[in-house]
Parts: sequence; structure tokens; C-alpha cells
Amino acid sequence: MPVTIGILKETAPGELRVAVVPEVAGKFRALGARVIMERGAGQGAQMPDALFKDVEILDSPAQVLAAADVLLKVQPPGAEEIEAMKEGGLVIGFFQAHQRVEEVRRLRERGLTSFAMELVPRISRAQSMDALSSQAAVAGYKAVLIAANTLDKFFPMLTTAAGTIRPAQVLIIGAGVAGLQAIATAKRLGAVVEAYDVRSATREQIKSLGAKFVETGVSAEGTGGYARELTEEEKRKQQEVLEQRIAAANVVVTTAAIPGRTAPRIISRAAVERMKPGAVIVDLAAESGGNCELTRAGETVVHNGVKIVGPANLPSQLAAHASEMYARNLLNFLKPAIDNGELKIDWEDEVFAQSCLTHAGEIKHEATRKLVAG
Ligand code: NAI
Repeated sequence: MPVTIGILKETAPGELRVAVVPEVAGKFRALGARVIMERGAGQGAQMPDALFKDVEILDSPAQVLAAADVLLKVQPPGAEEIEAMKEGGLVIGFFQAHQRVEEVRRLRERGLTSFAMELVPRISRAQSMDALSSQAAVAGYKAVLIAANTLDKFFPMLTTAAGTIRPAQVLIIGAGVAGLQAIATAKRLGAVVEAYDVRSATREQIKSLGAKFVETGVSAEGTGGYARELTEEEKRKQQEVLEQRIAAANVVVTTAAIPGRTAPRIISRAAVERMKPGAVIVDLAAESGGNCELTRAGETVVHNGVKIVGPANLPSQLAAHASEMYARNLLNFLKPAIDNGELKIDWEDEVFAQSCLTHAGEIKHEATRKLVAG
């Protein structure tokens, strides 16, 4: 029996992405799978049903859920979706399991298989499946466009008959995937860019994009290529240097994150008060606590003339390309498990093993198992 892959219209507020785009649906068909989709699932990303040539369009989410062996999602499946999934079904998407203990429990109780895209190991072989990276790149790009749009100045230097305009000073804090994309975007717009990260490996990456690396003398490499939390002494040292750079900037884009923790607090209220009126902060960590003390997720706060933008779900604001990249990540993830149209998961494969949240009545991901056990 060919595997049936189902796609739903995302229901989370403000979510415009879709898990599969027409090109990727065609590739699933070519692998021998049957693809079914809820009517209008691609609408938010401007992909009408008519573009999904290889897909059977069904009228209701219930029909998709009842028939899909594999459900592809962007946002975590909700309680009702989990209840309506087919017996023995499989669901793949972003899960944020630490915030969804109840849903994980139900997935386990129902014996469903779930894979979390954020748990895909960041090994070379899995780069094409790395949805954290693809969506972070979108966010980094969009953050700079929001900053440029919010700032009441030009980004580039202009030499005009009305005199010379100085370029905007942009500071990017956190030079992971989102930060590097933010640097590249700000450079393309002509700003003078400097950037900072606690991982010293980013020094060369920042320089190679034509930005200046801000030296604070603090280096905090953690495990797996991520940053670790700073000590109080390190925080003080970092703060001293950064606050001068923050005060000099027209735009600050912050992207600093530590996996599984609330975002590090890097810009204090006092630092905002030392910024120039009209300066703009775009805080990409808004949804995980904020890198700036004054950030409010989903809002723009104005404090002493400084605008602090706390965008929620930036990838959704570039829904077409974010969906395209995410859908390819899903295809690359699932492809090795489709053999002549049938689903065969190789549990020895570390990509499947490490990204599995629940399977056959068990929670496979250790941190989540502990959390659910309380
Ligand atoms: P992330 O989203 O967890 O964090 C963003 C950035 O914030 C990181 O660069 C981190 O070092 C930085 N940061 C944390 N605390 C900070 C602080 N107090 N001040 C300033 N900066 C701070 O990271 P992301 O973007 O998901 O990737 C991080 C790492 O993963 C990088 O080493 C990247 O090269 C690696 N990676 C590897 C991949 C692969 O091999 N397939 C794919 C993607 C990323």
C-alpha cells in the first residue's frame, strides 16, 4: 500500500506557512506516495489549490486526518488533531515539546509516532533537513527589513545634490544562522555593520561577510556548536563593551539564544536609555523572553524615542519562501523512509532516532520523557 501523506491548513494564529508546496508534493508523488491536502491549505502562502496538481484536495481537516499515514505540519499538532489522527499514524513538524507536555502525553497514549524538526541533529548529512536553519535565515533577513522600514533614516551612504547622507550603523548581536543572514542583508542595504557573538568561531564568519567583529574578550562555546550561559563576571565584561556599541548604533538586531533556555538578557533598560532617539531594536528572541529588557512579543514598544520591535513568527511573514524551504526540509527528511511508495523507517539511522519524540507508546526523547514524568 502506498503511504498517504496529509497536509492540513495551519490553524495557529498568524501562521501563513504550509508544510508542503506544489513542487515538493510532486516529488512525494514521484516517490510513489499518495498526497492529500485540506482545501485552501496553501492559501496563506499564496499557493492556491489549483497549483497542487499531484494532490487530492479534501474538504475538511477530519478527512485528511482520518486518511493520512503521515501528517506534515508546520506548527505542533493541537489536541484535536492528535485525537483525530489515524491509528498508527505519524506526524512531523516543529513541536516545542517542552511547552506541550499534554500533547506529547496524548501522542504516547495513542501510540502515534512523532518527529520534531527542531530535534534533527545538526550533522553535515542532515543539513538539507535543517528546518531550524532554513527558518532562522528567513527571520534574520526579515528582521533587517523591518528595522530598515522602522528607522527614519537611510541605510546606505548617499551623495546627493542635497549633501551627503551618512550610512546607518547596524549592530547584530548573536551571529548564528539568523544573525549571519541579518548581517548579509544589512550589508546589501548599504549599512555599516558590526556584530557580536559569544562563540569565537563566529569572528571569521562575521568578517567574511564584510562586518566588523566586536571584541569583548568573552568566549563561551558550549556543546554541539552552541553557546553556553555566561557567568556573572563574563556578563559584566560583555555588557561594558556592548553598551558603548549599542549606544552608537542606529539599529540593533538581536538573535542571541541558548537551546532550551530563556533568551539571554543583553540590552537593559539603562542601555536603551543611552541610545539615540529614533534608534531601532529588532529583538528576534522576543518569543523566548527577549534579549532586551523592554521587549514585548508581538508588539513595538517606544521608550525615550527608541523603538523596540518584538516580532512574533517572522518566517510566517515571508510565507511563500519560508514554506518552500521548510517543505524541502521535510522532503529530505522523509525521503529515506519511503521505499517504492511504502513507509519504512530505519530506526538505526541517527536522524530518525534523535528526532523521534514518541513511538509505539513511548517517549523517545529523553529530556521530554523526564519533563512528562514530572
Ligand atoms: P541559536 O539560535 O541557538 O543562537 C543564536 C546565536 O546566539 C548563536 O550564534 C549563539 O552563539 C549566540 N549567543 C548565545 N548567547 C549569546 C550572548 N550572551 N551574547 C551573544 N550571542 C549569544 O543558534 P543557531 O543559529 O541555531 O546555530 C548555532 C550553531 O549551530 C552555530 O555554530 C552553527 O554553525 C551551528 N549549526 C550547524 C549546522 C550543521 O552543521 N548542520 C546547521 C546550523 C547551525
